[in-house]
Parts: sequence; structure tokens; C-alpha cells
Amino acid sequence: MQIIPSIAARGDALAAFRRDIHAHPELAYEETRTAALVAEALERCGIEVHRGIGQTGVVGVLRRGDSTRRIGLRADMDALPIEEANDFSHRSQHAGRMHACGHDGHTTMLLGAAEYLAASGRFDGTVVFIFQPAEEGRGGAAAMLADGLLERFPVDEVYGMHNWPGMRVGRFGVAAGPVMASADRFDITITGHGGHAAMPHLTRDPLVAGAALVNAVQTIVARTLDPLDSGVVSVTRFQAGDAYNVIPHQARLSGTTRALRAEVRAALREGVERLCAGIAAAYGVSIEATFNEGGYPPTVNTAAQAQVCREVAGALVGEENVAWNRPPSMGAEDFSFFLEQRPGCYVWIGNGPGESGCTLHNPRYDFNDDSLVIGASYWVRLAERLLSV
Ligand code: NI
Repeated sequence: MQIIPSIAARGDALAAFRRDIHAHPELAYEETRTAALVAEALERCGIEVHRGIGQTGVVGVLRRGDSTRRIGLRADMDALPIEEANDFSHRSQHAGRMHACGHDGHTTMLLGAAEYLAASGRFDGTVVFIFQPAEEGRGGAAAMLADGLLERFPVDEVYGMHNWPGMRVGRFGVAAGPVMASADRFDITITGHGGHAAMPHLTRDPLVAGAALVNAVQTIVARTLDPLDSGVVSVTRFQAGDAYNVIPHQARLSGTTRALRAEVRAALREGVERLCAGIAAAYGVSIEATFNEGGYPPTVNTAAQAQVCREVAGALVGEENVAWNRPPSMGAEDFSFFLEQRPGCYVWIGNGPGESGCTLHNPRYDFNDDSLVIGASYWVRLAERLLSV
């Protein structure tokens, strides 16, 4: 392992910083304390700081030499609405909020790298440190882009990293192509004609139509996608009725679709809408389906940039500790918005075995502090490679 010695020497300080953020988790677009800590830490290193990008986002700009090359390195800062079940001393001090996805660690790793690069980094070009808000379902990356991130702080390539429970500390996962899925939400309202449960012939039952629809959407993946493509359609909510003897007037369904390619993403939506129209006609009810506008696209790494990340990680932890082209996750990630705009790569860093509930979004999760110096060293070596002197 080729951890940078001066970063290793800062391990305890980085862990203390990470635990402080962990103890004070902030939800999407409320990351004011975290953003202030990040901005102050960057300023202490002499890095140019811009606050309030995408509401609570922070951008640091570090220039060296005269090269026009520019890269973006991104960390997310937000926590989740989960009540922490851990009882260690740095557990959340905020009821119902918790860093259950390790964004406290992501923020700390990128800050550790920024400190090193500002003090003694050997590079020629511009590093843009992107500390984004609201990764968890609220599209903070898109908010930063809408706020002119790439116009104000232009980068040619952009890179991200996420911890991965179930992968040993000291290992990386790197892949070219799709690594995370798109995520869209849908809401369906079925309107029939309510009435007495003993006289169904006088009603149009939205429950029976809804049941048919839940079954029908299972055929979208099974019968309309190429078997070599990946997709998910999950109905996760079905609400109707209040009584034993009343056929209700309406039923409401909600769910999510996931895909690794834009074409599949569109096909899933089209499939849900087509079946809604068909079931409505078949059952004599009206069905309205709406898809949210804030869905996340698939996270797709570009091949050349993924290869560079593979080599940088391999030089750091040994090639045998880099899982190359491991299968994608059907989870989603809003780093995808950056990758829609620029080439780049999003990697996984091992967080340990993932035992005793230490898995993403679990109330017993915690970021593994042993990864801090590894991740910070990775960021430094990646920047030095991309902006080599
Ligand atoms: Ni996350």
C-alpha cells in the first residue's frame, strides 16, 4: 500500500473531523454547518472558496503552473432521515438524522486531499473541489449545474467516489460503462366508481384494476426488454379503501423504475404508461400516471477515464486489490448528472465487511475511518496523474 506518508500522519485529525460531521448530520440543502466547516478548511489551505453553489454547495479552486488542464473532484455532504442506532461517542446528536451513507467520510477524504495538494501537490493545472449538497434523492448535483457550476468553474473531466460496505478496506472497485442505475418515481391514480361491496355490478372497482396493473407491469422487464439488458419496475405502495363493505372510488399506486441505459429507462416509462392505458380500457376505469421530473439518469463511466482510475488505484493499493469491471449496482447516484456533461469516472472504495448492520442506509452504518487516508491518497494521486507536471 502506497499511502502518502504525510496524509497517513494526518489520519487521526481526519478521523476527528469525520466524526464531528457524523455527530452533526444535516439533510439535503440544510448542510450549512458542514458547508461552513468545508469552506473554512479550504480557506485555511489558501484555496479559493465559493459558497452557496446549488444552495449549500461549496467549490474550491486550486491552480498551479500554467497548464490549461482542469479537473473536478466531487464529494457529497448530506445525511439521511434515519434515527441512528449506534451508541458510540460520535453518534448523531440530531434526532431522526444520520450519516448512514458515508458522505461524512467522502467529504473528509476530499478535504484531506485538498490540504495535501495545496501544501505539496506536484501538478500543473487546475483542480476544482466540488462539495455538493443533497445527493440523497434531491438532485444536488443538478442544482449545482443549474447554478452554473461548469460555466463558472470549467472542468474537462469529473471524478467521484463512494464507499462500499462488503468490500474490504484497501480495495477499490472500478468499471467502465454503467456503474449505477437511473432512478425514476411514478405515481398512478386509478379512478373508478365506488359503491356497496355487495353490489359490485353497480361499481367500477379500482382495486381490481390496480391488482391487474401491478401484475401487468411485471411483464415490462420480463417480456419487453432484451434479456441482456437490466431493468427494474417495483410497485412499492398501493393505497385504497377504508371499510369492509365499501368498494372505494380511487386507488393510488407508487413505485420506482431503474435502468442502466437511457433507452431502457425510456422503455420502462413507456411500458408503465402503455399498460396504464390498456388496463384502464379493459376495466372501465380511468388511470393517470405521472413520472417525477427529478429522476436520476444512469451513472456511466467513460472508458479512458475509468482506465486511468484503475491504474491510479492499482498503484496505490496493488492491482490485485482493484476489482475491475465488477457488476453495476441498481441503486442510483446523482453524480450521473456530472457524467452527462463531462467524461469521468465514479469509483467504489472498500468500507469493510458490512457486518452488524454496517451497510448503506442502515441505522447501524458507520463510515470506516481506516479508509480516510486511502481515499485521500487516491484523490491526490489521481489529480497528480491527470495534471502531471
Ligand atoms: Ni451515498
